[in-house]
Amino acid sequence: MAKIKKIYACTNCGATSSKWEGKCPSCEEWNTFVEEIVSKPTTQEEKKLAWKGGGGNNKNPKPIALPDIVANNRPRLVTPDGELNRVLGGGIVSGSLVLIGGQPGIGKSTLLLQVALKIPAKILYVSGEESDGQIKMRAERIGGQTSNCFILTETNITKILNHGKEMKPDLMIIDSIQTLASPYIDSTPGSVSQVRECAGELQRFAKEEYIPVFIIGHITKEGSIAGPKLLEHIVDAVLQFEGDRNYTYRILRTIKNRFGSTDEMGIYEMQANGLREVSNPSEILLSQKDEELSGSAVCATMEGMRPMLIETQALVSTAVYGNPQRSATGFDLRRLSMLLAVLEKRCGFQYGQQDVFLNIAGGIKVDDPAIDLAIVSALISSLEDIAIPNDICFAGEVGLSGEIRSVNRIDQRIQEADRLGFKQIFISKYNTKGLDIDRYGIEIITIGKIEELYRVLFE
Ligand code: TYD
Ligand code: MG
Repeated sequence: MAKIKKIYACTNCGATSSKWEGKCPSCEEWNTFVEEIVSKPTTQEEKKLAWKGGGGNNKNPKPIALPDIVANNRPRLVTPDGELNRVLGGGIVSGSLVLIGGQPGIGKSTLLLQVALKIPAKILYVSGEESDGQIKMRAERIGGQTSNCFILTETNITKILNHGKEMKPDLMIIDSIQTLASPYIDSTPGSVSQVRECAGELQRFAKEEYIPVFIIGHITKEGSIAGPKLLEHIVDAVLQFEGDRNYTYRILRTIKNRFGSTDEMGIYEMQANGLREVSNPSEILLSQKDEELSGSAVCATMEGMRPMLIETQALVSTAVYGNPQRSATGFDLRRLSMLLAVLEKRCGFQYGQQDVFLNIAGGIKVDDPAIDLAIVSALISSLEDIAIPNDICFAGEVGLSGEIRSVNRIDQRIQEADRLGFKQIFISKYNTKGLDIDRYGIEIITIGKIEELYRVLFE
């Protein structure tokens, strides 16, 4: 009989220790250690089984010379979902293991069920979270009926894999990894050792049977996939489904992809009958307003490989309660403080006694440094209460000494702004190398320093 043993495991990276630790020695996160119970193999038989990875795998691979290996030339499974194909680098690679992470309720189950219903292939959808009746209701809402989609409500990984081997689906979906449990391990579902064991079993299954597997994983409040490092290196691709639950837009981002670029992203809109692909993001992310209001500026950003025009809004108002507040939604707060400091130091604007609120439209998070120039313009516009005309947009990074720096893919940004009918775009004067300014219908205004911005824009 296996001996029961207690260990402590880090919920972030999976490191284990025999005693509790406040700070994980491996990933240096605080307060991530939890108690876990593992059964240690004691008998000879159990040790053998443990070596084989809990049973099942009897193959005995030998070293093979590279030229003798047959390449995996199986075609990718192309889904009817253009955004998902794009994010995966052109469809699902056979035998790949893909992790989809996201906060509860963001729409992970909806996304994958939708794919399962619309793809003309045999799908095994394993749910440990919902009953088959609930899934049926959801399927009816999404409005797809297919006899190719099989639902299995099971949480025992061994039984799931047996069904998988028997059925040989073209794609298997696991909803979610946190509900699965291996009978070889005593700890509860969702614990570090269970997640690691089940993910390992799924990986072996995918590689041996050439069946792609999608795993849904919930992420913790801090925004990391529970045991992120733990799962990230096991799987071939990590996609993150994000968005503000109060808005309808959702972004599917590639965090890791062994078969494609990590620069891609897909945009969806949550509707009453499921997720709709958004192939033209700019048109919805610009708020439709008739009058020009101060504090709003449009940025030509790149999200992945796609140009997109997003509206930024700033509200600067006199602080009435002691310490002035700074708050940013969809933008890094420290970067906002830096931009405010640059504005004070280089242009003499006084934000010290002002509350500053910043918001990126649509609940979208932007990392692109090119948004700086739009934010700075919105900040000045709100402070001075002068509106920026609706047909102007910006693309430039702001440096610490107030210089406007060049940004990548400027040509694509200008073209997108032009296509959407903007009349002027402000870019860095260092960004014009190789750029034929007269080629575009839109007027390009180049500036080198933040001091010039006020002069050109408001005077
Ligand atoms: P769900 O896919 O269950 O989230 P997850 O699996 O990531 O936890 O999505 C749940 C949310 O999606 C829920 O708040 C309702 C909403 N929703 C719609 O708005 N329309 C729909 O057609 C469906 C199926 C869900
Ligand atoms: Mg779900």
